Amino acid sequence: MRIVMIGSGYVGLVSGACLAALGHDVVCVDKSRDKIEALQAGKVPIYEPGLEMVIADNCAAGRLSFSGDLVGPVAAADAVFIAVGTPSRLVDGHADLSHVYAAAREIAAAATGFTVVVTKSTVPVGTGDEIERIFREEFPQKDIAVVSNPEFLREGAAISDFRRPDRIVVGSDDERSTELMRDIYEALDLKEMPLYFCERRTAELIKYASNAFLAMKITFINEMADLCEELGADVQKVAKGMGMDRRIGDKFLQAGPGFGGSCFPKDTLALVKTAQDYDRPLKLIETTVAINENRKRAMGRRVIAACDGSVRGKRIGVLGLTFKPNTDDMREAPSIAIIRTLLDGGADVHVYDPAGMEAARAVLGAVKYRRNAYEVAEGADAIVLVTEWDQFKSLDLPRLKDLMKSPVVVDLRNVFDEDEMIGHGFQLVPLGKRPRSAYPARTLFHAVPPELAWNPLL
Ligand code: UGA
Repeated sequence: MRIVMIGSGYVGLVSGACLAALGHDVVCVDKSRDKIEALQAGKVPIYEPGLEMVIADNCAAGRLSFSGDLVGPVAAADAVFIAVGTPSRLVDGHADLSHVYAAAREIAAAATGFTVVVTKSTVPVGTGDEIERIFREEFPQKDIAVVSNPEFLREGAAISDFRRPDRIVVGSDDERSTELMRDIYEALDLKEMPLYFCERRTAELIKYASNAFLAMKITFINEMADLCEELGADVQKVAKGMGMDRRIGDKFLQAGPGFGGSCFPKDTLALVKTAQDYDRPLKLIETTVAINENRKRAMGRRVIAACDGSVRGKRIGVLGLTFKPNTDDMREAPSIAIIRTLLDGGADVHVYDPAGMEAARAVLGAVKYRRNAYEVAEGADAIVLVTEWDQFKSLDLPRLKDLMKSPVVVDLRNVFDEDEMIGHGFQLVPLGKRPRSAYPARTLFHAVPPELAWNPLL
């Protein structure tokens, strides 16, 4: 099958490379000359474990190539995937579809013979209809079908997610394109991973509904974490006990500093806006968005509380900046709001991330960039762990403590083992459970007025 992928960003590059690995001839197209030249020279512009090798192997096998021009590749293609960006529009939070429609017009102009146009970008319900309308009105002589095939890849695990998806959703209202999509994916073991066919609008909504549900699940456990701290329960054990019920499942129940990334914040907002436009407001998702937004700064205040209520003039170390581990992506990362809160409070903030330092420089303010966790610990009044990179799970704890001025660690991902930390003399502030030691006033917990109750030191 000859496939063209329009947009060589995260989704396009991963999907294009993985489709080539299934045996198809794939051309990834992008308007950025620099990006295409880098890819042609074997440089992969994004951080994704395993991707470089998939790209190298398939380029070497002659199945994968890169081009700045779509006309030739599209003319020869059976299927053209649209994987361009759909950022939130600054004015109103709706998804900005200008790139999608521009790509659709260029594809239609170049297409010859029967061509299936597949939207891979996350697009609001009805976008496929609008693309079809453009084709019908502006290119009536062309034989083009429009299909929705949303992606469910997670950054950091995208290659394995592509190879072993829970499902592949295909929204198609046309028999020929349904068959073509079946042919594209047939190299995957479809007995194990069902190809789920539905109408195009339904497929578009499945993507938003899935992301919104997951975002809501995370927000649910984050609120439960706050309640656990008040009640003297342990959120990790609550999550485990809940997750044993297969109707609930144990995934996406890790309490943390709030969800970030390029998908959940943007997609929840876009879904909220769509629902409002149709006069069917989604109150649960509206609340999810608001809670998550507040939570990020609240995590900054949590660090301030752990420093006796003030970080003015204090050195605070931050471990992990990216929105989650195994990515260099800083988009909507909770670390940004947390660090801003600390800087507003007058802290001297020292940061380290295994992969996100370059991206962080573009979005963080006046912080100091250090080369590893131990440099971050040097002279620190407190450390806050924001992103759960594996390397932070195996730190030399005695060394870390010796370097710190005061051994306060605020763990926003519950990475550290409490007994071990306490054994090494740290004052650990975990998330979703009461700190166990070094805070003699713990027994006063219930006497704390509600407005101060989040303060783990009271
Ligand atoms: C998410 C979805 O998981 C993918 O299925 C989807 O394809 C993708 O969005 C997309 O729409 O393109 P991604 O943004 O890469 O993938 O990251 P996730 O692993 O879902 O994590 C999102 C955020 O939730 C992170 O900030 C993470 O730290 C947070 N999270 C996740 C939690 O706080 N707790 C959890 O239990 C799980």
